[in-house]
Amino acid sequence: MKVAMIGAGYVGLVSGACFSEFGHEVICVDVDPSKIGRLEKGDIPIFEPGLEQLVEKNVQAGRLSFTTDLAAAVGPAEAVFIAVGTPSRRGGGEADLSYVHQAARDIAAASGGRKVVVTKSTVPVGTGAAVRRILAEANPAVEFHVVSNPEFLREGAAIEDFMRPNRVVCGVDSEHARQIMRELYRPLFLNETPIVFTTLESSELIKYAANCFLATKITFINEMADLCEKVGADVQAVARGIGLDKRIGNLFLHPGPGFGGSCFPKDIRALAATAENHGAPLRIVDAVNDVNESRKKAMADKIARALDDDLAGRTVAILGVTFKPNTDDMRESPSLAIVPALQRAGAAIRAYDPEGMEEAAKLLDGVTWCEDAYDAMEGADAVAILTEWNIFRALDLDRVKKLLKRPVMVDLRNIYTLDEMRAAGFRYVSIGRSEIRAED
Ligand SMILES: NC(=O)c1ccc[n+]([C@@H]2O[C@H](COP(=O)([O-])OP(=O)(O)OC[C@H]3O[C@@H](n4cnc5c(N)ncnc54)[C@H](O)[C@@H]3O)[C@@H](O)[C@H]2O)c1
Repeated sequence: MKVAMIGAGYVGLVSGACFSEFGHEVICVDVDPSKIGRLEKGDIPIFEPGLEQLVEKNVQAGRLSFTTDLAAAVGPAEAVFIAVGTPSRRGGGEADLSYVHQAARDIAAASGGRKVVVTKSTVPVGTGAAVRRILAEANPAVEFHVVSNPEFLREGAAIEDFMRPNRVVCGVDSEHARQIMRELYRPLFLNETPIVFTTLESSELIKYAANCFLATKITFINEMADLCEKVGADVQAVARGIGLDKRIGNLFLHPGPGFGGSCFPKDIRALAATAENHGAPLRIVDAVNDVNESRKKAMADKIARALDDDLAGRTVAILGVTFKPNTDDMRESPSLAIVPALQRAGAAIRAYDPEGMEEAAKLLDGVTWCEDAYDAMEGADAVAILTEWNIFRALDLDRVKKLLKRPVMVDLRNIYTLDEMRAAGFRYVSIGRSEIRAED
């Protein structure tokens, strides 16, 4: 099937590459000519494991191409996906739908005959109906079918998630749209992936409900971790103890510095705004947002406490700045709150991240970016682990101790055990577990 993918960012590029791997003929369109220029040269603008090889393979097979010419891509396509950004509106929590609406107008102008328009972007309830209206008004001669097909992939595991999803959700408004979606996801039908066909409205809400539920789980265990610290319990044990209950499940029960990223924070705000606008406020979702935002700020205080609340003239080594490992995405990363707070308290920052430094350097001022983790720790008063990249999991602790002025580690991802840090002679502060004092 001929497919046009509007927006070649994290979701559009991964979805486009995966649909071409399924055997479809995909053209990815973006308004950013530098992005398309890089893609045409085989240079992938984002870091996502396996994506470069997948793109190269399908470009060579003639199934995947890139353009800035939306009309040329949309004209012959049977299905057109909208995968543009839906950030929070400036000064408010509502999703900014201007990119989606613009894409719909552009698609309408470039269409003829019959066209299925699929929204892959995360959009509030009612957006599918609005897209349908825009299409019909802009080009009444065309038979448009509108679909909501939210994407659940995780950055860092995006290809695996797209190819082997837990489920695919399709909100459809016609039998033709249903057939096109079946055809698009045919390989997944064959391997019996559950496909949920529903209405546009339910599909749009499923995406937000899923993200908000997961964010709630993270926030729940984060607050439990705070309580564990006060009462001398170990949050790792609590998480395991509750996670073994199948009704709860063990995923998304890892305590940390608060969730960030391109989706959870903005999706929570957008769902809260939708609920407010419809007179059905979601108090749990509001609380998750508040708790998470204050948590990111509290993490800087935690690091300061490990240095006896005296950061003036001190140097803190920061390991990891992206919101999670295996991505270069810095959107709403906890580091964006933590690093400036440490600087305001007088600390100098030496930092290292395997993939995120180029992007982070645009967002964080006054940071010394280092060659590797050990370089970052050289001469620092303490080290703080903000992102659980695998290379930080097996640091040579003797070497770390020699490099630091004082053996102080703040581990906001709990990637070391209390026993090993005690044996290594560190002052070790983690999340939801007892603090190890160097002299313990
Ligand atoms: N990143 C994720 O992990 C993820 C996961 C699931 C869902 N989503 C959702 O998918 C959507 C896209 O997210 P993303 O992370 O890929 O965003 P992104 O910012 O990486 O990519 C969006 C792309 O769309 C392009 N664009 C904007 N308007 C355009 C237009 N009119 N025509 C052509 N291109 C246009 C931009 O230049 C950009 O390259 C969002 O709604 C997001 O919430 C993201």
